[in-house]
Amino acid sequence: MELKNDLLLRTVRGEAVERPPVWLMRQAGRILPQYRAVRERLSGFKELVETPELAAEVTIQPVDALDVDAAILFSDILVIPEAMGLSYEMVEKRGPLFPETIRSETDIERLLSGEEAAGRLGYVYEALEVTRKNLAGRVPLIGFSGAPWTLMAYMVEGSGSKTFSRAKRLLYQEPALAHRLLGKITQTIIAYVKEKARHGANLIQFFDSWAGILSPEQYREFSLPYLREACSAVSEVPVTVFAKGAWFALPDIARLDCQAVGLDWNISPQEGRSRVGAEKILQGNLDPCYLYADPEKVSEATRKMLEAFGSRHIANLGHGVYPDTPLEGVHAFVQTVKGYRYHRQ
Ligand code: CP3
Repeated sequence: MELKNDLLLRTVRGEAVERPPVWLMRQAGRILPQYRAVRERLSGFKELVETPELAAEVTIQPVDALDVDAAILFSDILVIPEAMGLSYEMVEKRGPLFPETIRSETDIERLLSGEEAAGRLGYVYEALEVTRKNLAGRVPLIGFSGAPWTLMAYMVEGSGSKTFSRAKRLLYQEPALAHRLLGKITQTIIAYVKEKARHGANLIQFFDSWAGILSPEQYREFSLPYLREACSAVSEVPVTVFAKGAWFALPDIARLDCQAVGLDWNISPQEGRSRVGAEKILQGNLDPCYLYADPEKVSEATRKMLEAFGSRHIANLGHGVYPDTPLEGVHAFVQTVKGYRYHRQ
């Protein structure tokens, strides 16, 4: 089906556009009362993720309510560890928990990988199909995956953590095991995102949410090579790499086979551009906490951000929107971008 609003896709192809497209990381779920209403009827988060009709419904909610230029499939990065054999629980108000974690070589050898693992995620592919059908071409649909290092961090740590020191310990104590695990995760996410593209995702974003806890040397050894392999394997659709906190690795990330690079709010647009170079499209990067400010202040900050990025930009926050963000702030952000026009050259 032809897209009525293809601004995001024209932008990632590097075409000259009238204004940047805008969407928010974590826009599906979290902030909308409509989402909470659906959620309350269900047993929990996983039921929503695993029921394609409902996942499609909450994916489309922000397109209706916020008027953003893209939808992102309601799902989670943790479906990958689960498909590989480590199931997760989503504990209310606390976050993810893995009853079993990776401790030894045997644990790693037991994991499924590649197409065998990705083949267990039929509910995700079905959710993409239903979403595409119900979106009826209004906006592009973004599919995503956790990056290998970030997924490994959860599989070894077993839950969220400030330091992920268990996961990092493996990198120092048993680097060969870490590489074996990262290799299996990479084969799985390659099969997974290819399948997502086949089932209607128009763009893939890799979230390396825990990039920033690694040293530059560790990032170069344990994250970049796997991201490189994953990016090079995906030729079906454009790819965005968002490595949170990895400002130090931006020149390396800029050399990956991807079209766009996400920036968090710890780096200025100018500094981001100088590290990434001219070629890639940049995405980001307003501090999500800015949306707590008065709407006029949000608009002012958003305009300043747009000016600083200039063209070749996808407007977004520097990380996911927080659950208690006032909707007025979100509207001010989105509407400011939508009213903006690039200056004539
Ligand atoms: O972007 C979107 O709106 C699409 C949906 C989406 C979710 N998770 C739904 C979700 C996406 C893209 C994710 C990615 C994700 N999940 C990441 C990478 C992005 C990032 O924020 O860095 C990570 C690290 C996770 C793991 C995860 N899932 C955590 C740590 C938590 C608990 C805390 C939180 O973020 O709310 C989740 C749960 C989760 N995933 C919720 C949603 C809407 C909240 C669950 C609920 O409704 O109770």
